[in-house]
Amino acid sequence: MPDRPVILTGFMGSGKSSVGRILAHQLSFRFIDLDAEIVAAAGCPINDIFARDGEEAFRALESEQLERFISEGGGVVIATGGGAVIAGRNRRRMRAGGVTVHLKVTLEQVLIRLHGCTDRPLLAGEKVPERAGALMEAREHFYADADIQIDTDGKSVEDVAAEILRCLKGLS
Ligand code: S3P
Repeated sequence: MPDRPVILTGFMGSGKSSVGRILAHQLSFRFIDLDAEIVAAAGCPINDIFARDGEEAFRALESEQLERFISEGGGVVIATGGGAVIAGRNRRRMRAGGVTVHLKVTLEQVLIRLHGCTDRPLLAGEKVPERAGALMEAREHFYADADIQIDTDGKSVEDVAAEILRCLKGLS
């Protein structure tokens, strides 16, 4: 098994947190949900960070927490937020310090899974399908850079975790 952090990337609603929890359990690794760490560090929900301080402030906190957990070394599965791949420094840090796993999801699935969700500030308001589609397209090439690509469509979170496990075994 990798001696570096296993880092899950992917669009909102791709299942990073649910899969990450299962995977960490199977590997007997610690599980870190980066969004939860950001909320703990900021002392308020993600919606409030965006509303009060703006996206840039959120991204700064995200980079800080990502750096913190990657620098702690292996034995951990980190579920990132969907936008963690935007910053070049995050991508370089993840590539150099971890094994990156992209959970691929279709726009259709994202819209089904996140329907009625109110805790994603980037998908609040009107024209959600259009905006989600544009965001997904803009990030696609960043996600494509991951060490491991996993299709999540039609699979349970347990199936996805098992597939990642097989891929990780293949790497070592
Ligand atoms: C974001 C994704 C969210 C969260 C924030 C921004 C994004 O995490 O970090 O709302 O830019 O895609 P999830 O991918 O866990 O929903």
